[in-house]
Amino acid sequence: VANDQTNSATELLVTLGGKNGAVNVRLADAVRTRIGEGVLQPGDRLPPSRVLADQLGVSRWVVTEAYEQLKAEGYLTAKGGSGTTVALRAGRPRSPATAPRPLDEPTTAVDLSPANPDLAAFPRADWRRAIQHALATATPRQLSYPDAQGDPVLRRMLAAYLHRARGLAVDATDVHLTAGTRSAVSMLCQLLQARGARRIGLEDPGWPRARQIAELTGLEVMPLPVDGEGFDPDALTSAGIDAVLVSATHQFPTGTLMSPDRRHRLLAWAADERHVVIEDDYDAEFRYDRRPVGALAALDPQRVVYLGSTSKTLAPALRLGWMVVPRRLIDAVEAARVATGVLVPAVDQLALAHLVGSGSYDRHLRKMRKVYAARRAALLAALNAVMPGEPVPGMAAGLHLVWRLPDETDEDTVLAACRHAGTIPAGLGTCRIRPGWPGLLIGYGNVPERLAASVASTLAEAARSA
Ligand SMILES: Cc1ncc(COP(=O)(O)O)c(C=O)c1O
Repeated sequence: VANDQTNSATELLVTLGGKNGAVNVRLADAVRTRIGEGVLQPGDRLPPSRVLADQLGVSRWVVTEAYEQLKAEGYLTAKGGSGTTVALRAGRPRSPATAPRPLDEPTTAVDLSPANPDLAAFPRADWRRAIQHALATATPRQLSYPDAQGDPVLRRMLAAYLHRARGLAVDATDVHLTAGTRSAVSMLCQLLQARGARRIGLEDPGWPRARQIAELTGLEVMPLPVDGEGFDPDALTSAGIDAVLVSATHQFPTGTLMSPDRRHRLLAWAADERHVVIEDDYDAEFRYDRRPVGALAALDPQRVVYLGSTSKTLAPALRLGWMVVPRRLIDAVEAARVATGVLVPAVDQLALAHLVGSGSYDRHLRKMRKVYAARRAALLAALNAVMPGEPVPGMAAGLHLVWRLPDETDEDTVLAACRHAGTIPAGLGTCRIRPGWPGLLIGYGNVPERLAASVASTLAEAARSA
């Protein structure tokens, strides 16, 4: 700084010119920022206050005030005759070797994650209007701690939505807001533990996040092998299972529909009140060949804990979801909610109520159904033309395809080649509890039709290279 006082003073001047507020506060901010960025390093000497004041065209008082403030905060020191210097403990190392990990994950050319809907299509204008409406109309009372079960108006709207879209004959008292499905699964695993349950059955292959949560909660995970009709409920009794998580209308990840016979047998198992069936209805809104099949919970909401969220319909970032709870479990759910300490942000709940109540939510779903149907058809056709292996037959639904690779293929090698080429699908192996044939989960929510051919050829090349 001492050698380059004019330049650093000019930089500070630019910063000071661009903002509002008292000049001494802005000067302190500017110096603090430069220390934080590592532009000013520990031991660097700052210009004497009179010199800097002249260069900046401000009074000397402004500079001494700013320096005093930064000394009080520990950024600067003034020792003996060496003037004002940057304190040793402040500042960030310049060396890239010790730089902190960037907060953002590296972005890839094409997002093939099966978890994401089209993130560019998030209805920003509708959500902005909904947030504005929530802020304009929220009463002071609504800005206190939110109702633990969720805003009553939103719960009424969700009950009506679940009735019309998923066939669940429930009312607002049955609906509980959650911070998304994983938050609900975590709460339910804690509830199961508290009830003395030991074993949870999970579909194999299935949702890896659910397995991780169940294991971390201390439950023993029992694999339930999935075939073309879902899993066989007879396995529950023979394996001594206490609870089960099922994606009945669109099995994750294989895309199959649980057969009516198995649904009925699963509900018969759930008639025993010691047993808990949890339905993950994660993407049922997206069916492209016919109307969505009704939820398992629609057959009997008193035997199934039903889970849904806005992660596929709007965006995972919102962290908004819902749960329909059989009455016999309500007290236990409330206790688990207190134990986890999770409340759902009230303003977001009011905004979601506006989005659903104004019809924007249904309109967005109608629009996206068309978009995804076209993307699915385009990617499937492109893959069929070039990709080794074959698609796993599933319904025309959801946001991803499952592609079976030739048996001898090493899935990890294919994934490494995909990553190298800038496209990252998921490996079926991560969804498996027991080993099985190799495959890829290819999300098409973010793959416009014009990119289908190039994505398919990148994936095909990666598969051949393995
Ligand atoms: C099987 C399954 N269930 C649920 C979800 C949604 O989870 P959340 O609501 O916690 O975002 C996903 C998202 O990827 C999923 O794949």
